[in-house]
Amino acid sequence: MSEATPAILFVCLGNICRSPLAEGAFRHEAQLAGLEVEIDSAGTGGWHQGEPPDQRARAAAKAGGVDISNLRARQVRLDDFDRFTHIFAMDEQNLADLKAMAPAGSKAEITLLLDLVSGREGASVSDPYYGGEEMFDYTWEDVSTASRALVEKLTA
Ligand code: 4NP
Repeated sequence: MSEATPAILFVCLGNICRSPLAEGAFRHEAQLAGLEVEIDSAGTGGWHQGEPPDQRARAAAKAGGVDISNLRARQVRLDDFDRFTHIFAMDEQNLADLKAMAPAGSKAEITLLLDLVSGREGASVSDPYYGGEEMFDYTWEDVSTASRALVEKLTA
């Protein structure tokens, strides 16, 4: 990876719903744009480590034309703050947890994902885990909109 290559980490709580959807949406948009970028996702919690995305998340991504079934959950690690240039939190709690965990002097820029979307700054991607299947479609829409904005930001 060259110095100039952006490295993007998407973070939620469990890494089985929102952040794998964000990873899948952004992989898709980055590929369409021909963008060279490193992409991963992780959870602040480790309960689902090694698991594929929630079946409802896989279905929502698939409906959007993206297969995320190969992804596996992992927990955020300290070296993530060095390895990634941008870390995007899905909600305020994820953001607070990441900021508390970040080693002093780490280079990663840590912000809310929806800060990328004009008019949605400061908003959270709602946690669909305890919701119905339609919640996962809203999540897919949010992460897809943010992914298009991120491609624009990185190619500007
Ligand atoms: P995620 O959703 O943070 O979007 O992956 C959740 C997944 C699992 C749990 C909570 C939220 N959980 O409590 O196990």
